[in-house]
Amino acid sequence: MNTVVDARKITVVTECAECPVSPMNPAHWRADFPILKERVHGKQLIYLDNGATTQKPDVVINTEADYYRHYNSNIHRGVHALSQKATEAFEDARVKVQHFLNARHAEEIVFVRGTTEAINLVAQSYGRPRFQPGDEIIVSEMEHHANIVPWQMLCQQTGAVLKVVPINDDGEFLFEDYLRLLGPRTKMVAVVHVSNALGSINPVREIVRAAHAQGVPVLLDGAQAVSHMKVNVQELDCDFYAFSGHKLYGPTGIGVLYGKQALLEAMPPYQGGGDMIRTVTFEKTEYNVLPYKFEAGTANIAGSIALGTAIDYVTEIGFDPIAQHEHDLLSYVTSEVKSMPGLRLIGTAKNKAGILSFVMDGAHPHDIGTILDHQGIAVRAGHHCAMPVMQHYGVPATVRASLALYNSRDDVDALVSGLHKVKELFG
Ligand SMILES: Cc1ncc(COP(=O)(O)O)c(C=O)c1O
Repeated sequence: MNTVVDARKITVVTECAECPVSPMNPAHWRADFPILKERVHGKQLIYLDNGATTQKPDVVINTEADYYRHYNSNIHRGVHALSQKATEAFEDARVKVQHFLNARHAEEIVFVRGTTEAINLVAQSYGRPRFQPGDEIIVSEMEHHANIVPWQMLCQQTGAVLKVVPINDDGEFLFEDYLRLLGPRTKMVAVVHVSNALGSINPVREIVRAAHAQGVPVLLDGAQAVSHMKVNVQELDCDFYAFSGHKLYGPTGIGVLYGKQALLEAMPPYQGGGDMIRTVTFEKTEYNVLPYKFEAGTANIAGSIALGTAIDYVTEIGFDPIAQHEHDLLSYVTSEVKSMPGLRLIGTAKNKAGILSFVMDGAHPHDIGTILDHQGIAVRAGHHCAMPVMQHYGVPATVRASLALYNSRDDVDALVSGLHKVKELFG
């Protein structure tokens, strides 16, 4: 299927030579991603490293190119036509993100570089002026380093202390332990919505509810959630939500921090510079209003606009068919590999999104990754920036196959046959 983009609007062209006409057909979705036609080591590319970054559909690539070809210019400051068009497209993208997350106001959407920057922003701008020695920040054992290190840095700066909610051996968040950790000293809860190393989906609504009962704000790391499920920040009632465009079929270098308006209003700017000010004299600077107060310097304009297109793209398909398809694939791949002798699944939570992490007896994850790569299969091997998870399972690394909407049963079959090859080689 071809999709044609008119700036930021997706038009689905329904003629398709190879597959039945149905927007619900994953084969249609696959055809939207040009990179999937590439060959690697002479083999058809099979891309199963979506947890690291997703591939981009034509519409997203075209949106970026369209911006640079036709209306590249700086935003907010220009009176000329190009600048006005770029500003309009940039602000339209913010509104798309607002609707995507169901935020109450567009001003609650701050464009940042990605999840990492969003979390650092909250740690430094919300936490640093407020936290005192002995204050506690709760994270979980399954966090990505991006949701550990910024808080540790804040602890060093303020004397606050990190508290960690353990996980069980299935990779599930231990809610009772969380309730025990929540207390009068807790000043922030920061947990991952979907674990990148395990695929576990956390009970974030309940986590937020319990924290709010103690008057504690909650940041959710949504890096791995937004491409798999509908996120509704008003329903979750989280105070902050962070995600990266590149894990949602959008460009790298652009991400989002959602924050409740009252909290963002009360926070000082994170960085100083152009665009985040209203007036500057050598005596005093008056800061700009939300969200610009947090967007110092020239933004990733092309990236923001293309993120808007990525949001259009997934919204057009809908999260019900995406989740159904990925759930079917995850069940299929899990049933195919779980009885393989010597293969141990890491992360067997009851509630899981499209991630399959595993180790194999006698074969290092990096060797497995390399053997699969020679068959054109891209998976990730390593600690997945979640070293505490590796420590929990007593492994240095795992192999991770992570699914996206364009993956198919053929991809899974190729992975399984690749793993059989690994077994042959390593006995
Ligand atoms: C759960 C989670 N949080 C945070 C991040 C960091 O995202 P980024 O590198 O895009 O800032 C990742 C990236 O893999 C992730 O999976």
